[in-house]
Amino acid sequence: MVKLTWTNKKDPNPQDLKKYNLDVFKQFEIYSFRANKVQEKYQNSDHWNNKLYWGDNLDVLYYLLNNFDNKIDLIYIDPPFFSGVNYKIKIEEHDKSYDSIAYYDHWNRDLDSYLQMLYERIKIIKDLLSNTGLIFIHADWHANHYIRLIIDEIFGENRFVNNIIWYYYNKYSAGKKNLPRAHDTILVYSKTKNYTFNELRIPRKKPRKQLKREMVNGVLKNVKDEHGHVIYRIVSDKKLDDVWKIPCMQPASKEWVGFPTQKHHELLERIIKIGSNEGDIVADFFCGSGTSLLMAEKLKRRWVGCDISEYSIYLTRNRILNYQKQTQNYYPFEILTNLNTERRSIIESGFFQKEFSIKRKK
Ligand SMILES: C[S@@+](CC[C@H](N)C(=O)[O-])C[C@H]1O[C@@H](n2cnc3c(N)ncnc32)[C@H](O)[C@@H]1O
Repeated sequence: MVKLTWTNKKDPNPQDLKKYNLDVFKQFEIYSFRANKVQEKYQNSDHWNNKLYWGDNLDVLYYLLNNFDNKIDLIYIDPPFFSGVNYKIKIEEHDKSYDSIAYYDHWNRDLDSYLQMLYERIKIIKDLLSNTGLIFIHADWHANHYIRLIIDEIFGENRFVNNIIWYYYNKYSAGKKNLPRAHDTILVYSKTKNYTFNELRIPRKKPRKQLKREMVNGVLKNVKDEHGHVIYRIVSDKKLDDVWKIPCMQPASKEWVGFPTQKHHELLERIIKIGSNEGDIVADFFCGSGTSLLMAEKLKRRWVGCDISEYSIYLTRNRILNYQKQTQNYYPFEILTNLNTERRSIIESGFFQKEFSIKRKK
C-alpha cells in the first residue's frame, strides 16, 4: 500500500490517554431547559446534553475516548487548509472596535507539522466513530492530495465512499495565470461496510419526461402497458450526485455571522441528512462558527463540537441560543473547557455574555 511520509511522522501515543481523567474538562456554562417536544431517541438518552468543548481538539479527542469510543454516528471536520493565511477579524463593541485573529493557518510553510497535526487527530477520530458511521473531511487544493493519502492509510482505501466537489460559483477568484479556483473537496470515508447512508434527492430545474423502469431479476427493464407500449412519467427531482453547486457564504446573507471561513448551512444540511438520523450523535472538532452544530440542532441530532478559538465558541453559543429562542425548543447544551489562566480570565471578563459583532478583515 502507498503511504505518505514526512519528517517526524508519529502515531498518537496511547499513554497520553491516561493523562485525561474525567475531571479535566470542566463545565463552565450549561443551558439545560428541557425541550417540550423532544424526539424519542433524545428522550431515551437519559440526561444527554449537547456539548461544546473549548480547547485544542487533540486534548478533547483523547478525553472523549473515555466515553465516546465507537459512539459517534457522523463526524464532519473542516480543519485549516494549509492556506498560509491567519484569518483576521474586526470586533465591534458598543463604543470601541479592535482587530483580532479568528484562527491561524500559516504554519510557517511547514507542511510536515500540518500533516502531523491532521494525522494524529484523524487517527483518534476513527476510534470515536461508530461502526456504522461516516466521516466527512473538508479540504481544498492546498492539501487535499495529501489528506486523501492519509485517510486511505487510516481508514483503508477500500473504505472510500465519495469525493464530493463543492462548486461555489459565486466566490471571487482572480486566477490571472490559472483558472479561477471555485471548488473545495469533501472526502467521505466509512469505518465498516455497513454504514448509514440516506439517499438525497434534489429538485430538477425543469420537470422531465422519463421512461418508467423497474428491476426484474436484477436487471433494469422498461415497464410496458397491456398493449406493450413503454410508459413515461414526469420527474421533477433527481438523485443528488457528488458535485454540489452551493454558493459561498457572503456578508449579505442573512445567516452570515462574520466568521472568515463560515460554511454554507445547506452544505451541512446535506451532509447531516446523508450520514445520520434523528437522535444520532454528530460531531465537528473544528467547528468554527458552529454551522454543523446548528444544523445538527435543527435536524434533531445530538451534537458534540470543539474549537480552540474563543470567537468560535462565542459565535456557536450565540447561534444555538438564538435558534432556541426563535423556536422555543430548548435542547440542553453545555460548554466545557480545560481551564488555564488565560481561559479563566476570558470567562471571568464576561466575554461570552458580551454583545459584539464580528467582521471579516482582509
Ligand atoms: C475552517 S474553520 C471551520 C469553519 C466552520 N466549518 C464554519 O462553518 O464556521 C477551522 C476551525 O478550526 C479551528 N481549529 C484549528 N486548530 C484547532 C485545534 N487544534 N483544536 C480545535 N480547533 C482548531 C479554528 O479555530 C477554526 O475555527
